[in-house]
Amino acid sequence: MTAAATNAKVIRFGVIGCGLMGKEFASAAARWCHLTDVDFIPRITAVCDANPAAAAWFEQAVPSVEKVYSDYRELLADPNVDAIYCAVPHNLHAQIYTDIIRSGKHLLGEKPFGIDEEGNEAIMQAMAEHPDVVVRCSSEFPFFPGAFQISKWVSEGRFGKIIEVEAGFWHSSDLDPNKPINWKRRIATNGEYGCMGDLGMHVLHLPLRFGWKPRSVRSLLSKIVEERPDGKGDMVPCETWDNAILACDVDTGDQAFPMVLSMKRIAPGHANTWFIRIQGTAMSAEFSTKNPKQIASLPYTPGGEQAWHVTDVPYKSAYGTITGGIFEFGFSDSILQMWAAFCDELVNREQMLQPFRCATPEEAKGSHRVFTAALESNRTGQTMNIQWGE
Ligand SMILES: NC(=O)c1ccc[n+]([C@@H]2O[C@H](COP(=O)([O-])OP(=O)(O)OC[C@H]3O[C@@H](n4cnc5c(N)ncnc54)[C@H](O)[C@@H]3O)[C@@H](O)[C@H]2O)c1
Repeated sequence: MTAAATNAKVIRFGVIGCGLMGKEFASAAARWCHLTDVDFIPRITAVCDANPAAAAWFEQAVPSVEKVYSDYRELLADPNVDAIYCAVPHNLHAQIYTDIIRSGKHLLGEKPFGIDEEGNEAIMQAMAEHPDVVVRCSSEFPFFPGAFQISKWVSEGRFGKIIEVEAGFWHSSDLDPNKPINWKRRIATNGEYGCMGDLGMHVLHLPLRFGWKPRSVRSLLSKIVEERPDGKGDMVPCETWDNAILACDVDTGDQAFPMVLSMKRIAPGHANTWFIRIQGTAMSAEFSTKNPKQIASLPYTPGGEQAWHVTDVPYKSAYGTITGGIFEFGFSDSILQMWAAFCDELVNREQMLQPFRCATPEEAKGSHRVFTAALESNRTGQTMNIQWGE
């Protein structure tokens, strides 16, 4: 069966926010034939952006688009839309996500799911009122074949006693002090979390999925570039945290270990590097998108050799594709796989074709707990405890 099979369930999508990420979804939907053996297919029927120029790209590039709105409330009233992808600045998440959920349309929302804990709580409240609506948070790193393999090893208990974990997401373009300011460098639009709100959910998704909740955090937050060009000839304050290092103490009930999380907008040489490293007494493993084809693992038996095995990981993620195993997997492939997981859940619910679902709102809420504690830790210089009980 291919995605184009006539019996595939069509999900009619509205896109709110037609910028960088809105276009990535359009691209994924346009090459759905890449996927094999799926019984669902997204069709983007309506789009909305406050900036008409952003929506105009969709009108030209996406033939399935029937309606273009500038007010998202009109899109939410459109009966030809079943589900929404929302990718707007963080200060708009709480209002727009709660309105989407209350309209009864399903939602894949971008992280961080609210500009702060209060915004996140409003989204969780709307969800509680509408349990029938499927809400998930965008996060694509786990769908890289190397990360997917590490998830399988964790679920199989292959690492033995965990020694320590390190996970991060590093960018480097902000090293250039002449890079103009944008909404992601302003507290009003990106939030006090700064780089944590921008990059942190990507770092925390797998640890939280594995049940590795930090019971405490000590953070070090840095502001490196203090001002940036505003694009109109002046310099303006660059307000947000550039880099964050979070030293966490994880306790899963049966074991406890340190976990270092880092989110960096200024990591020289790293265009867009996601990584996770797990060290355990029975196995250690590492995957980084810096070398997207490679996964490193070190199986260990007491007294045995300690040798890293570096393997070219096959092009194999959650859903089957037409691409042969020898080829390279990339960012846009991870977006396609994440979208397949969301559409699969909309159509097949508990009987998804494969078990790895998109990041949940509860996981996004967990990330807010960690970021809020990290802000407080940086303010006070203290280690902050995190209470996970509801
Ligand atoms: N998952 C990822 O890999 C990833 C990568 C980048 C950004 N993001 C997230 O995606 C979201 C958007 O980021 P982006 O990089 O696409 O930003 P962007 O600035 O490229 O696009 C945002 C769009 O929202 C539009 N917009 C603003 N106010 C609006 C309103 N009231 N109604 C409708 N549209 C409105 C803007 O005009 C713009 O076109 C953020 O939450 C960000 O954190 C996720």
